[in-house]
Amino acid sequence: MIIPVTKNQHPKEKPQMPLGFGRYFTDHMFVAHFTRAKGWHDPKVVPYAPLPMDPAAAVFHYAQSMFEGLKAFRHKNNEIVIFRPEFNAQRMAKGALRLCMPEVPQELFLKGIETLVAVDSAWVPKEKGSSLYIRPTLIGSEAFLGVRPADEYTFFVILSPVAGYYSAGSKPVKIWVEKNQIRAARGGLGEVKAAANYVSALQAATLARPKGFDQVLWLDAVHKSYIEEVGTMNVFFVFKNEIVTPALQGTILPGGLRECCLELLKSWGKPVRERAITIEEVAKAHVQGELLEVFGTGTAAVISPVGELVYEDNAMKFKYDDNSISHQLYKEITDIQYGEKPDTRNWLRRLSFEKS
Ligand code: COI
Repeated sequence: MIIPVTKNQHPKEKPQMPLGFGRYFTDHMFVAHFTRAKGWHDPKVVPYAPLPMDPAAAVFHYAQSMFEGLKAFRHKNNEIVIFRPEFNAQRMAKGALRLCMPEVPQELFLKGIETLVAVDSAWVPKEKGSSLYIRPTLIGSEAFLGVRPADEYTFFVILSPVAGYYSAGSKPVKIWVEKNQIRAARGGLGEVKAAANYVSALQAATLARPKGFDQVLWLDAVHKSYIEEVGTMNVFFVFKNEIVTPALQGTILPGGLRECCLELLKSWGKPVRERAITIEEVAKAHVQGELLEVFGTGTAAVISPVGELVYEDNAMKFKYDDNSISHQLYKEITDIQYGEKPDTRNWLRRLSFEKS
């Protein structure tokens, strides 16, 4: 597959540190189109610019929209790698089915991203802790107001040089356990990276923010008791005798780093389980001194230790230091991502060797 590239004649200044998250965008973007008649066609890398979109496009009215998040890293020898892009290609293909959208073929997904990252490779930051965040997005772009799956789609990829997701940097985050609103119910969209899941989570997070919370932890829709996820992260609980993350049962996003952490913890011989876990069990274990750590995992958030988890009027606090499991996982994963440890699990897709 040949992807034509139109170079941006007006490249932007590279941003200064600190980068924050999702504030800056590179000089180019990847775009491809789908119609029922032609299938996927016209893939290209073009200068970063607004997308021409009909105001009647399905994405604006019926939320036919989903995205992915993955990262490219620069190694000390200037080699650029992308972390597990095949995982994101597969997850997007599966999610597209649920949203009645055509799946983006893996080759188009990977080739589009690789071509774009190669064109904008000078934007991949050098500093450990920063990376180039890749945001593939699939939207219904047919202009039609009848409620049915659109017949036309646009797949685009944009890039953003980023540092940590949370404004507190690598400091432990403060999480509010939400009991009133819900993020997802069984049979809904919870396990899909649908844009709609993020808007459904916005209000609770917005109400929690002025009280000092970085995010909210979602409970199940029926019992308001089973722990699900944090919306921007999956969660892990380190008990004295067991490490637990909620089992995937349709309402939780199957996170890429969740999978990596499960694999690493198992390989370290830790007793890790995917199972149902209630907030009451967590609160009880905390009182009994049996709950040692809580942390979140996500592409943007990487591994984020939770310093405080507040459930009703119970504020559970957790210590975090170099011996914490979350710190060990953070170190192992980032060492692999930045090429400081061998990639024995084949997580990195090498882009090209680039001389600076
Ligand atoms: C990611 O970790 O890539 C996410 O999608 C979380 C958030 C920034 C939406």
